[in-house]
Amino acid sequence: MSDNVSIHRVEDVNDFNAIMEIENRAFLYPYPIDLFIYDFQHHPYSEYYKLILDNTIIGYFGIWIIFEDVQITTIAVHPNYQGRGYGDKMMEFLINYVKELGCRNITLEVRVSNIKALNFYKKHLFEIVGVRRRYYENGEDAYLMKRDL
Ligand SMILES: CC(C)(COP(=O)(O)OP(=O)(O)OC[C@H]1O[C@@H](n2cnc3c(N)ncnc32)[C@H](O)[C@@H]1OP(=O)(O)O)[C@@H](O)C(=O)NCCC(=O)NCCS
Repeated sequence: MSDNVSIHRVEDVNDFNAIMEIENRAFLYPYPIDLFIYDFQHHPYSEYYKLILDNTIIGYFGIWIIFEDVQITTIAVHPNYQGRGYGDKMMEFLINYVKELGCRNITLEVRVSNIKALNFYKKHLFEIVGVRRRYYENGEDAYLMKRDL
């Protein structure tokens, strides 16, 4: 992993153009840009962060912070940069940030087939606490995962 990497809060809606390029390549079923922008502009608990390498966005995550409860709404690294520790870096940043805010737990949903993400979340001490049947549009189930802080 290069040293020239940093994480910043997304403040400018135009950053979603770069984020969408990653979204479209990282996910088999990407979410549309309108959904990101609506969440960014209208959801009072929503925050997005971008991972920058040499002035280019190569990763991002979204969270909802609802008092003590945090929900990871999305997290991705550009496929060309996956497997190099950048996901770990974002997750460590996220956990430290919400711990400092005094949050008590983090939850997320993940496709049951997404072995890479499941490993990633387990590494960061998330546990499977439930299954949401046919959670995704293609009928796939989601695991509900949780980490207490
Ligand atoms: C999941 C994701 C964010 C992880 O980011 P990353 O930069 O690739 O991950 P890192 O290189 O930091 O690796 C962190 C851990 O993830 C897991 N992991 C990463 N690549 C993996 C692979 N090819 N197979 C299995 N586990 C893998 C491992 O536990 C790894 O830890 P280790 O290297 O100590 O074994 C990234 O792969 C991604 O964007 N995937 C597509 C989008 C997605 O599925 N997001 C999650 C939606 S719920």
